[in-house]
Amino acid sequence: MGHLDINRRLPTDDLSEVDELLLAVERADGQRPLSDHLWIDLRQGGRPGYVGLLGRQPGHDHLIAYCQVSRGNDSWALDLIVHPHHRYEMASIGPQLLSEALNVIREAGGGHVHWWVFEPNEIHTTLAQSIGLHAGRTMLQMRVALPLREVTDIVTTPFRSGVDDERWLAVNNAAFADHLEQGGWTQSTLESRIQEPWFNPNGFLLHNVGDELAGFCWTKVHLETSPVLGEIYVIAVHPRFGGKGIGRALTIAGLSFLHRAGISTGMLHVDADNERAVQMYKSLGFTVAHQQRAFVGDVN
Ligand SMILES: CC(C)(COP(=O)(O)OP(=O)(O)OC[C@H]1O[C@@H](n2cnc3c(N)ncnc32)[C@H](O)[C@@H]1OP(=O)(O)O)[C@@H](O)C(=O)NCCC(=O)NCCS
Repeated sequence: MGHLDINRRLPTDDLSEVDELLLAVERADGQRPLSDHLWIDLRQGGRPGYVGLLGRQPGHDHLIAYCQVSRGNDSWALDLIVHPHHRYEMASIGPQLLSEALNVIREAGGGHVHWWVFEPNEIHTTLAQSIGLHAGRTMLQMRVALPLREVTDIVTTPFRSGVDDERWLAVNNAAFADHLEQGGWTQSTLESRIQEPWFNPNGFLLHNVGDELAGFCWTKVHLETSPVLGEIYVIAVHPRFGGKGIGRALTIAGLSFLHRAGISTGMLHVDADNERAVQMYKSLGFTVAHQQRAFVGDVN
């Protein structure tokens, strides 16, 4: 593979070319590429900081690769998606698009960068090093067959949009105070999720202790995957109520909601170093299905 023609996609440009590439990758991997944050940025027109880079080559009527830059709370996220037919050329495609992505970030003032990679291998590590990034967090995708043997009688109520927003944000941000993507959510972050077609308040379970919101389990159904996956999208217990069995019970409640909806595979993403959560999921029967790694660094 020689030189790529790289164009910056405008947020208002037609999405079909990118959609076609994302679909080709999803068919090859059985998993939609792009993390949720970047996916929503792409679908909802791109917030400030969004840049999509389109890699083309003469003789090919499809995109060879797509690289997206999105601004997060305190850092930049980037993702590189290469057409399945061109993955063997990763060592040549990668540096061209990633260097351009870092230029975009540099032009916008620089900052901390995360490049998330699905099932990382040595080529990704070499690529990351070549643009000054090093291996950071590892995210596990864990799965479990449903129904679980364990049951729960924890009382939950569905999330009420416009009523529970503020107290939910308070619990989420307290529980994920140290978390880069899940912490520091605002009303607009929450609304961007509520607007997604998969959003179902009945699968967004809240647990109160007295009048206080103690924890929640928010589920998401992936009808597009095979098998259909029922995800524990976000789960947390306010630190004040931690260690009392609420997290475990809410996990079981979320999974039993998914099973009642006809789903036989539960799934979630968890940081590999979140030992308490990983241990809890393992003891419920979850095993690791995939890994994702963030390559991180700073751009001046
Ligand atoms: C992970 C989390 C939901 C667990 O909720 P919780 O109500 O505190 O957990 P529980 O009391 O139900 O205990 C769950 C497990 O953690 C263990 N645990 C509880 N307190 C612990 C502590 N202080 N240190 C280590 N392990 C602990 C329990 O023994 C239990 O293990 P078991 O299920 O194998 O018996 C909660 O800690 C939390 O909100 N963390 C921040 C957000 C987060 O990381 N969410 C998960 C992202 S995937």
